[in-house]
Amino acid sequence: MKDILAELEARRDAARMGGGQRRIDAQHARGKLTARERVQLLLDEGSFEEFDMFVAHRCTEFGMEKQRPAGDGVVTGWGTINGRMVYVFSQDFTVLGGSVSETHAKKICKIMDMAVENGAPVIGINDSGGARIQEGVDSLAGYGEVFSRNIRASGVVPQISMIMGPCAGGAVYSPAMTDFIFMVRDSSYMFVTGPDVVKTVTNEVVTAEELGGASTHTKKSSVADGAFTNDVEAIAEVRRLVDFLPLNNREKPPVRPFFDDPARIEDSLDTLIPDNPNTPYDMKELILKIADEGDFFELQEDFAKNIITGFIRLEGQTVGVVANQPMVLAGCLDIDSSRKAARFVRFCDAFEIPLLTLVDVPGFLPGTSQEYAGVIKHGAKLLYAYGEATVPKVTVITRKAYGGAYVVMSSQHLRGDFNYAWPTAEIAVMGAKGATEIIHRADLDDAEKTAQNTQDYEDRFANPFVAAERGFIDEVIQPRSTRRRVARAFASLRNKQVHTPWKKHDNIPL
Ligand code: HXC
Repeated sequence: MKDILAELEARRDAARMGGGQRRIDAQHARGKLTARERVQLLLDEGSFEEFDMFVAHRCTEFGMEKQRPAGDGVVTGWGTINGRMVYVFSQDFTVLGGSVSETHAKKICKIMDMAVENGAPVIGINDSGGARIQEGVDSLAGYGEVFSRNIRASGVVPQISMIMGPCAGGAVYSPAMTDFIFMVRDSSYMFVTGPDVVKTVTNEVVTAEELGGASTHTKKSSVADGAFTNDVEAIAEVRRLVDFLPLNNREKPPVRPFFDDPARIEDSLDTLIPDNPNTPYDMKELILKIADEGDFFELQEDFAKNIITGFIRLEGQTVGVVANQPMVLAGCLDIDSSRKAARFVRFCDAFEIPLLTLVDVPGFLPGTSQEYAGVIKHGAKLLYAYGEATVPKVTVITRKAYGGAYVVMSSQHLRGDFNYAWPTAEIAVMGAKGATEIIHRADLDDAEKTAQNTQDYEDRFANPFVAAERGFIDEVIQPRSTRRRVARAFASLRNKQVHTPWKKHDNIPL
């Protein structure tokens, strides 16, 4: 009996060593943690329950029968993050480069199936050379099975991808279908075809980092939602994110203890809006002043900065925030910001996270580049996402809400539940100057008359009261009391129920 127990421990020890000390040292030398170290850091101490530690591949090609490492290059199981259950897979680059075999994929599929059945998020740590070359089509089939589960789990449990090494070729499409992707600077990359193929096909010379590093995907492509300096920081931030999320689509987000008075008055907000309507101000200041304890988890911080997306808590409950940022492109909507915000709104709606929208938007960005690239379709994504969202929706217009962008930004017309405006709000078809140039075109040569016409338009429409008279704005509120008003609005909506007509699924303009 004793021998058997000892053998079990010996086998476990061997499995834990992955590809051996030399390869573990090489992993560390690159500033990367091993697959197991990552899981240990991600989960609460002692909470990890591993599955399939002894699973080995069945390939006999290219001498693979002599190389059958226990676990087959991926560590899988479940554990907890601050006491809440999550499923995890972590690819082990020290074992055959973390490459995906038929059995490696099966291990991932097993925990994904369990996650859906038991209603808990899946966190995938990617560090892999891609399809196991020795296995050929069996590996591709394995990927296909994982993709299929990504799709089935979408909208059922949150799926989070951490890219902590190579992730190339078709392998990128599993993370791409998850809700969030986080990368580590200088040690991770994602691309469909690598630098060598790019050079052959297009003659472009580009490094792996330039082509698909964290900077590229957080600033240019928007494939990734965040980039971190190293593995430890990335893992700590994902733990923080998980605290904001519900475990599945049938559960409400967790309620955290809070020590911040929901009725807190912020006098400084009364002077947040500059006297000159064309002077920018930082919308993040408002977000931080509304949030419990000023805690804001921002997503896609470096992409389409004219719109801000992320999570806060109000009275301990998670709220998704979408806010125009007047500091960048005057806060206007364009293709990138519409896509960014639309995807965020849809995530929140899928997981019952209420939405707070802070509006200061002069309209859509004009220009051929926008029109040729399809701003009509992309802008419609955000409009559609807001209109279909049935979660509690509270909107505060701080300054400009012009034209179509007024309607898009969670207006009452798109089933916004509470639509507040500050006294500084300007809700109109367009700004006074543009409006005057159209409706008083005949007077344009007369500077004095034009100034008067502009002033008249401003006096008539550059305020929240016309919209308030029609009931499109529920209340004009004091900026200083925004946190209290918004918190009370969400509190009143906790049991909101909306029925939508049956449909197989919608047809959002993709
Ligand atoms: C089998 C692999 C492997 C793979 C790496 N290894 N990739 N084994 N299949 N795909 C093994 C190496 O043989 C090596 O084994 C160990 O992993 C570490 O690899 P190195 O090359 O020494 O590491 P490094 O220099 O860091 O380079 C990492 C790498 C490179 C850039 C990922 O290994 C690489 O280019 N690999 C091949 C990538 C690839 O073409 N994959 C297929 C893509 S197509 P030893 O024993 O020496 O430690 C694809 C399609 C998916 O993925 C389709 C889904 C539908």
